[in-house]
Amino acid sequence: MRRSVIKGTGRYIPPHLVTNDDLAKIIDTTDEWIQQRTGIKQRYWIEPGSVTGSSDLALEASKKAMDKAGWKPEDIDLIIFATLSPDIFFPGSGVFLQTKLGLDSTPALDIRQQCTGFLYGITTADAYIRAGIADRVLVVGAEVHSTGLDKTDRGRDVTVIFGDGAGAACIEVCESDEEIGIIGHALHADGKYAESLMLELPASRYSPERLTKEMMVDGREYPKMDGSRIFKLAVKKLPEVTHEILEKTGYTINDLDMIIPHQANLRINEFYLQKLGLPPEKMFNNIQKYGNTTAGSIPIALDEAIELGKIDTSKDLVLLSALGAGLTWGAVLYKFS
Ligand code: ACO
Repeated sequence: MRRSVIKGTGRYIPPHLVTNDDLAKIIDTTDEWIQQRTGIKQRYWIEPGSVTGSSDLALEASKKAMDKAGWKPEDIDLIIFATLSPDIFFPGSGVFLQTKLGLDSTPALDIRQQCTGFLYGITTADAYIRAGIADRVLVVGAEVHSTGLDKTDRGRDVTVIFGDGAGAACIEVCESDEEIGIIGHALHADGKYAESLMLELPASRYSPERLTKEMMVDGREYPKMDGSRIFKLAVKKLPEVTHEILEKTGYTINDLDMIIPHQANLRINEFYLQKLGLPPEKMFNNIQKYGNTTAGSIPIALDEAIELGKIDTSKDLVLLSALGAGLTWGAVLYKFS
């Protein structure tokens, strides 16, 4: 049977460190508020003034993942690129990454599911592999948030949480009768919450022009979030989708060796773990160092957890889960072997 396994992971975090105290110098916030509400101590942003798109960060993460997988760019059958901060409005960042990898005909697909983007990405990769359409899929989640944040007091709730970064995974076919690799997925969306977390402009729905100076007066070109609504949805839906995928695949909560959740807020993840009744060592968090890197957060955390030896890559059962703008949420269950 065709199954999908992770052959290599990689991450890239840009070098420009921004601490909470750095932010407190430009907006009305404090290190104490940010740490208490989110757990974040610092994040990294691209070098101010540089021309660095999400595809540039993705390239570095992809090269590391491909080195570990033993892949050359020509081995890739499909690129899946998850981001909410594409290099430009269109085309998507996948084609920029493709050409930076030195390729000129490999298909490239962009996924716009925000924090759940990497999970939609690896689920799509699994479907392509199981269907025999592809043998090797590069899935990347990458964000350059820092150039699109409202760095005034008006945007302080959103600006303090986001960091830049990229993570990648090389997903490859494996013929096996054992239940290994990607063994289950559960993806969801609920569009009635679309405007609870959005970056509205430029918007094709407005005419005669999609972006005018008048529209920008209220900062509608920056992300807006109803934080407490999203928080409440997250602490409800993340445990729900965890139980859903375990039920679907026939595992129990105690079979899980590690949870790699999206890194949106440490408090969300602590509530989530509490509701599952699991001890802290069953969840890996690194939001303290990187902030919320949206589509990048799960592959970054997965790569770091593997590097730190938090996951036994010869046997562990690992759950990846996320909730974010859309509203989108989901989980993927992975068995290392
Ligand atoms: N510094 C200081 N004070 C602030 C800041 C800040 N950076 N931001 C907001 N405040 C103030 C508010 O103005 C408010 O003041 P008031 O009581 O005088 O009105 C107070 O702090 C509380 O504001 P809340 O918004 O209620 O704070 P909350 O505890 O909800 O924390 C946060 C805000 C961190 C954003 C939280 O709601 C959250 O994490 N929500 C979920 C985020 C999430 O999961 N998003 C999805 C993923 S992202 C994606 O998909 C792209």
